[in-house]
Amino acid sequence: MKTRTLLALLLMLSMSLVSCVKDTVDVHYTTYSDEEYQAISAVLGLPNDRVDYDVELPQHMLDLGMVPPKINNAKATLGRVLFYDNKLSRNEKINCASCHHQELAFADNKAFSEGFDGELTLRNSLALGSVANFKSSYEGSNGGGIAPPTQRQFFFWDERAHTIAEQSTMTIQDDIEMGMDLNELAGRLAQEPHYKVLFNKAYNTEAVQPEMITDALQEFINAIVSTQTRFDDGLAARKGDVGSTFSNFTQQENQGKALFIQHCSSCHGANMSISQETVANNGLDQDYTDLGVGKVTGNPTDVGKFKVPFLRNIALTAPYMHDGRFATLEEVVEHYNSGVKMHENLDHRLRAPDGNSPRRLNLSNTEKAALVAFLETLTDQELVTASRFEDPFK
Ligand code: HEC
Ligand code: HEC
Repeated sequence: MKTRTLLALLLMLSMSLVSCVKDTVDVHYTTYSDEEYQAISAVLGLPNDRVDYDVELPQHMLDLGMVPPKINNAKATLGRVLFYDNKLSRNEKINCASCHHQELAFADNKAFSEGFDGELTLRNSLALGSVANFKSSYEGSNGGGIAPPTQRQFFFWDERAHTIAEQSTMTIQDDIEMGMDLNELAGRLAQEPHYKVLFNKAYNTEAVQPEMITDALQEFINAIVSTQTRFDDGLAARKGDVGSTFSNFTQQENQGKALFIQHCSSCHGANMSISQETVANNGLDQDYTDLGVGKVTGNPTDVGKFKVPFLRNIALTAPYMHDGRFATLEEVVEHYNSGVKMHENLDHRLRAPDGNSPRRLNLSNTEKAALVAFLETLTDQELVTASRFEDPFK
């Protein structure tokens, strides 16, 4: 009898303990109701906890006047699911990540990528981890995070898209890339129970509109920001003084940094956050088969001009240039050292002082190796491994 009472007491005690634990579980913040989470979990491995896509910029970027984007988590989550969904392509064979792999800083390792029907893209896939640093999204001079028109850097190698929503519309509907009509896509997605939940969370409606698809993709791409490299650590320790010797760099990396500032930063920017030039002709060819910006504007002075790409994570995004012609960073450095070709639109910074011939750097092997070593400090391990950017499909 006594033992029974004791047992009963113990049982009651442990039950109340369990309910205590259960209470704390109950107040725990969840994103979805049970019913919603069931629909989501049928196809997606998303946690029910809040996934935070907020972007924080380090002080040295804030000091440049950059403004972090305000990310709406529900839209970014939807954008992430869309980014990895084969339903975005006509035959449901490929998704955005097919050509933008997270482990490769959202580029791919081919000169040209395969579209939904096996046809090759006309240009090399661009890395996405740096998109957020583009002036078009981030420079906050007028308060809205949008730079004045003269300073904006747009999207694609020829800058033909002015926003990521516009870029996404073009990509989804491109005959080679995804071949899908946006209205048809909206209809396709509206039938999926998990999308009903995700669109509802992001836009308070289950009626999927094409603009919501591209807006959500834009939100996700905006959340992919590269700020955590050894270069950033060095820059932060020196309070943004990029010219000073970084204590976390080897002597070779510091030498490479100095060479970069001397020969490359007038276009690419020394701080790896704001490039000095939006587009330029960097002397790849005497005759351009791909006219670049010239094809978009029809202006002869734009022929052979292409976007000056950001160099964050550059060690992960080979092959290089708009047509992927260089397999290694050594080849890129050799191009600037000895391979620049004369063209009437060749940028003045890549011309010899006489202005009529291409510049030759005459770098020693040690200097070339130092430049490459410096470019390798721009890799962001957090970006390429962060679970918030991973494929959410089961
Ligand atoms: C078949 C391969 C392929 C697919 C699929 C693809 N992309 Fe791309 N992406 C590219 C290529 C190639 C470029 C460069 C094209 C150009 O400049 O003309 C590019 C460029 C971009 C850019 C411009 C980056 C910059 O620096 O200007 C963004 C942003 C982008 N893609 C996002 C996406 C999104 C979002 C999706 C899915 C809706 C997607 N891509 C699907 C191959 C692809
Ligand atoms: C006149 C401006 C200019 C200067 C100076 C310049 N670049 Fe570039 N860089 C460009 C442009 C424009 C491109 C893209 C060209 C293309 O693909 O047609 C580019 C492309 C690159 C790429 C390939 C990026 C990618 O994603 O494929 C690397 C790497 C690079 N530059 C490094 C350097 C280095 C290192 C130096 C200094 C030795 C340098 N650049 C000097 C304008 C410049």
